[in-house]
Amino acid sequence: MPTIRDVAAHAQVSVATVSHVLNGTRFVDPRTVARVRHAIKVLGYRPNSLARGLRRNETSTIGMLLPDNSNPFFGEIARSIEDIGFTEDYNVILCNSDGSEAKEAAYVDTLLSKQIDGLILISSGNSFAPLQSILDAGVPCVVVDRELSDDVPVDQVLIDNRQGGYLAGQYLVQLGHRRIGYIAGPNQLSLSAQRLTGFRAALGEAGMALPDEAIVPGDFFYTGGADGMAELLRRVPGLTAVFAANDRMAVGAMSTLQRAGLRVPQDVSIIGYDDIPLASALYPSLTTIAQPTVEMGRTSVSLLIERIKSRGETLPVRRVTLPVHLLVRESCCPPRTGSSAKSGKSSKAAYTQ
Ligand code: RIB
Repeated sequence: MPTIRDVAAHAQVSVATVSHVLNGTRFVDPRTVARVRHAIKVLGYRPNSLARGLRRNETSTIGMLLPDNSNPFFGEIARSIEDIGFTEDYNVILCNSDGSEAKEAAYVDTLLSKQIDGLILISSGNSFAPLQSILDAGVPCVVVDRELSDDVPVDQVLIDNRQGGYLAGQYLVQLGHRRIGYIAGPNQLSLSAQRLTGFRAALGEAGMALPDEAIVPGDFFYTGGADGMAELLRRVPGLTAVFAANDRMAVGAMSTLQRAGLRVPQDVSIIGYDDIPLASALYPSLTTIAQPTVEMGRTSVSLLIERIKSRGETLPVRRVTLPVHLLVRESCCPPRTGSSAKSGKSSKAAYTQ
């Protein structure tokens, strides 16, 4: 295995010069650079990246800490980050917090002990406080998707979740639905409240209210959507449409309706949020609010690498908010006039302000 000394001898320069060429740590005459690079190619020399990194206090490693990459929404973001990381010579360590702030904090300690160069975080909660150790360690961090309530000096790549909820509500109102239910996201997440706020705003513009009994709790899992749908059928006679705060819950809701002998969308329309690959593969295919997962990943890893490479310089904290859009597929249609979900009551009674 050729060493840096072999390269220096072949190029007839010092080992220090070879090191400066490899690490860009000092100007080297271009003719000398050419000789060194030729020697590296001829000898097949491969620099020891860990040793090089340690000299530059880098390990070329990025931590990616997210709730659950078995959810395709997170999986697509993680994949986008890993793809960019690979092209930029960074290894990515993926960790699942399972929505546990304790597990999240434990992973932070582990990742810091591995000398990561930076961290991309989709948090389990709303506060950065449990992760203060990242700031204390001076490790660059980018928060994605789940906005943090604290005014923390980290870059954030977020989504306009209020607009997402608004688009879902506006679409159902435009179809003519008046007996509408909502399966909420986990209430500890600010994005759940933002989606509900936007949804209520769209209904409010049509002179409609969304009463509390038409809102059931959810957990972003299939079973949470299935159970939430069953509760809405009990609570809301004449229900004709449901907005689920993510696609996995929308899929669970659809299974409950079909088990109850109700047709989607003829009896009850369903709209989700995320646009996971399953949404388009279902029959009927799921109408949803599409989140830009690939762009979320690309933007976050680009911001992080820029901050890693500019270490020591002061870069302003960046906050990027990406748009969402409505994807109309097959799971929504206008309500049947007169009757609706076989709860027996007319859907004429709309929610009015
Ligand atoms: O499906 C998972 C949900 O949690 C998505 O809507 C995304 O916003 C994430 O925070």
